[in-house]
Amino acid sequence: MCGIVGYIGNREAYPIIIKGLQRLEYRGYDSAGVALLNGEMNVYKKQGKVADLHNFAKNENLKAHVGIGHTRWATHGAPSDENAHPHMSNNGRLVMIHNGIIENYAALKTDLKKKGYTFQSETDTEVFINFIEDIYQNTKVDLPEAVRLALTKVVGAYAIAIIDVNQPGQLIAARKGSPLVIGIGKGEYFLASDATPIVEYTSEVVYLDDEEIAVMGKDGLSIKNLEEVTTKPYIQTLDMELEAIEKGGYDHFMLKEIFEQPKSIGDCLRGRLNAAEGRLHLGGISDYVNKVMHADRILIIACGTSWHAGLVAEYIFEDFCRIPVEVEYASEFRYRNPIVGEKDVVIAISQSGETADTLAAIELAKSKGATILGVCNVVGSSIPRTTHAGSYTHAGPEIGVASTKAFTAQISVLTMMALMIAQKKGTMAESAFRKILFELEAVPDKVAKCLDLNAQIEIIAEQFKDATNFLYLGRGFNFPVALEGALKLKEISYIHAEGYPAAEMKHGPIALIDENMPVVFIATRDSSYEKIVSNIQEVKARKGKVIAIVTEGDKHIVEMADHIIEVPHASEAIMPLISVVPLQLLSYHIAVMRDCNVDQPRNLAKSVTVE
Ligand code: G6P
Repeated sequence: MCGIVGYIGNREAYPIIIKGLQRLEYRGYDSAGVALLNGEMNVYKKQGKVADLHNFAKNENLKAHVGIGHTRWATHGAPSDENAHPHMSNNGRLVMIHNGIIENYAALKTDLKKKGYTFQSETDTEVFINFIEDIYQNTKVDLPEAVRLALTKVVGAYAIAIIDVNQPGQLIAARKGSPLVIGIGKGEYFLASDATPIVEYTSEVVYLDDEEIAVMGKDGLSIKNLEEVTTKPYIQTLDMELEAIEKGGYDHFMLKEIFEQPKSIGDCLRGRLNAAEGRLHLGGISDYVNKVMHADRILIIACGTSWHAGLVAEYIFEDFCRIPVEVEYASEFRYRNPIVGEKDVVIAISQSGETADTLAAIELAKSKGATILGVCNVVGSSIPRTTHAGSYTHAGPEIGVASTKAFTAQISVLTMMALMIAQKKGTMAESAFRKILFELEAVPDKVAKCLDLNAQIEIIAEQFKDATNFLYLGRGFNFPVALEGALKLKEISYIHAEGYPAAEMKHGPIALIDENMPVVFIATRDSSYEKIVSNIQEVKARKGKVIAIVTEGDKHIVEMADHIIEVPHASEAIMPLISVVPLQLLSYHIAVMRDCNVDQPRNLAKSVTVE
């Protein structure tokens, strides 16, 4: 949550910062602001989106070669111009942007007030920058050292960037718990919450580690940690194309990302799986296969859509590997007193690799001796760097706040993990193993066939766009798909939607059904097909409107349902990768028809770095 961008070098800083903020807007869009240093410090900030900031600032003096910018997801203080970042210290010298939360800000604020400090905003960040100013003024140290001393005293999470009006040749950054990447150009430096604002200018990056402070400027880049140990910057090459972060002719990132799925799933499988040769190898976890095979239990930890991918994985791992699996909301797990031990393997799933609750849950499980594997999309993010091992999903940047291609890539990786373990453990017959390999390889083409249904789904969406409630029902492997379909709809269209196991309907939701209630059934041909057919009849008997996702050629449900969406046949373990696609399209079209901001739904953010 919150995106930060910074630049120091010979180019004009403003265009780099504003474009960077637009790329990071998925992280929050309550307000935006920039600070530009050119002899004097100019700060422009505005409630609303980055485009509002640009309209507000575009006629001002924007010339500068040093600057920082911020797009905010409000935590302390409502979205407003005053609470927008950057924040300036009382003497007007220091300006800061911050992604994260300072937990002891109230105590620091009380102390600073006693010393005569005043505050224009309700934010923890304004307290933070004044705390640094106070140390800077009262000690004889330089600014990087004052920042370091301050950081040893603050409690919480931060990715920060600071500029000092008296030192225009220096940009300071630090992080703990929130992400920060530094881009290295020729005599210039970029910084951002992720690499998307940087990729256009350089592919050389350094991912700052927790508790590291970086100083960038005419003297180059130097990095120290809070213990004053200097570290040599580890420069990595970005593996990201500029097209991957642009809309490429689509109206929305979400639609582009839905349509990218044949490719993103293909990219995820590439080099790892060869069905003809019966070969499957996930290099990232190969050293841990034995550990998982002998695990007492697999604990899956995630949030949001990633949690739904975890539920699909529960069915797959238990079926293929015969290992008990528990799927946990990271936010609940971390605040219980969970029973975890050395014989447990934790799989943490996260698109962003930055979700605060998931990170904290990992730390907790790690402290209890569990082995932690990660399934993440963003390369170099915090979760892959804290886990023992893991596999990237390689879905490419996902920018729409509602997750789509990351979900199918997560399930693809998790299925491969389960297959690798099942083969080694001998819990799956070779023929079944080979069959699933072929099926996985065929998923990109089957997903492409689902995308051909786009126009048909748009027509269905038209009929239900004004509904106030939706019910999504599925059984077995398709139950988590029902949850995911409901989540997609509520996230972007603001229609209340509930996902339920179809058989549980009679224990409550059936009371909601009348002629105004659309019920989406994920009723593809699988072992619970007959049962779900009965559930559809139960809904029809109460005059509910049934939209059914069925397997091509279905003869029964077609007679009962009001609308049918036919998807290609697949084994039940593979079906979630296919059956979810029409649901993504349905929610997309309904949201567009309701004039909702599909890519940036209200109140949400893509990367949830607060608990
Ligand atoms: C937010 C996003 C969701 C995402 C969830 C978990 O709520 O809007 O799309 O599923 O966070 O994020 P993660 O990055 O850990 O998968």
